Amino acid sequence: MTQVMIKECHGQICAPQPHKQISVKLLRWYDQHRRHLPWRAAPGHRPDPYAVWLSEIMLQQTTVQAVKAYFEMFLRKWPSVGDLAAASLDDVMKAWAGLGYYSRARNLHACAQIIAHDHQGHFPDTEQGLRALPGIGPYTSAAILAIAFDQRAIVIDGNVERVITRLRAIETPLPQAKPLIRDYAQDITPAKRPGDFAQAMMDLGATICTPKRPDCAHCPLHFACTAAANGEQETYPRKRPKAQKQTRFGAAFFVQRESGHVLLRTRPPKGLLGGMTEIPGTPWAVDFNLAAAKTFAPLPARWKKLSGQVEHVFTHFALQVNIYSATVPNATPAPEGCRWVARSKVDQEALPSLMRKLIAHAQAGLK
Ligand code: ADE
Ligand code: SF4
Repeated sequence: MTQVMIKECHGQICAPQPHKQISVKLLRWYDQHRRHLPWRAAPGHRPDPYAVWLSEIMLQQTTVQAVKAYFEMFLRKWPSVGDLAAASLDDVMKAWAGLGYYSRARNLHACAQIIAHDHQGHFPDTEQGLRALPGIGPYTSAAILAIAFDQRAIVIDGNVERVITRLRAIETPLPQAKPLIRDYAQDITPAKRPGDFAQAMMDLGATICTPKRPDCAHCPLHFACTAAANGEQETYPRKRPKAQKQTRFGAAFFVQRESGHVLLRTRPPKGLLGGMTEIPGTPWAVDFNLAAAKTFAPLPARWKKLSGQVEHVFTHFALQVNIYSATVPNATPAPEGCRWVARSKVDQEALPSLMRKLIAHAQAGLK
């Protein structure tokens, strides 16, 4: 149902501009209620493209809350894109450890090197230029163009999708609704302050138009929201029921020398958790045979199976890992591809969250 309002202004009959009203009201709200985030410039100022790019890469699959401290640590260590390009990949991977989706860190480093060496340290300000860089897809290029370069690019993340499907009461489920969402975002994105508009949509989605119990009473877009008018705000975006994630199983081998050194190895550079540090273990498989686990042990020892499993959820599967633990004499050499790491140095390794959980579980099991 479309509402047509005719309003008199300046003595003439003027059609209202509801799209314009949306950006005007939203930006006014943003000026009062925006979140103060370390990558944002002061009102009226443009942020450093390097900071925008770094934050957007970190935020791709990670929450604002988790990103803040990592972002500040990266900027302290590497204040410019040239500094980041000059760092070793290993140091970047270590600094990234815990943020997840580690191909982002490899792409980050590769991208910094291209910017430093081929672009005199300046980020391109065109979609084509940005999309040619590693790790920059359609979302990230639009976010950089809007936020760092004040261009009218259309920025759509999960928050924006939720707000828009509610504003328009879009019945098509995600992901099929994406083109409809994009069309509407095109209509309401203003020519002035497109970067603030994009971030205002994100802030609205994060603080007011939240997935559960949106606070419509305090929403600056209530006047234009079809879902709220129908009292159905929580039911959007529509989604198809999710397929259940498969569970894979495996085992990990936590072995220490009597001195406390822990046996670790580096995963192959490509693929899941590529290049990260791990505890030696079995492959992970849906039909993993626990009885055969010990045939994958990295060295002969008196392996003791600890009680309980460690669970972890990846994008495409869930994982359950059993842990075997052993202590060996100090003279035991590291098997091919593995290394002994002093207990006090383990935290400095590029350990993904799963491996941190496994180590914590193994150590709890030894007490
Ligand atoms: N999520 C992704 N980019 C963001 C930004 N610039 N501000 C807040 N949340 C975000
Ligand atoms: Fe979201 Fe409610 Fe605002 Fe509509 S009125 S955009 S549902 S918070």
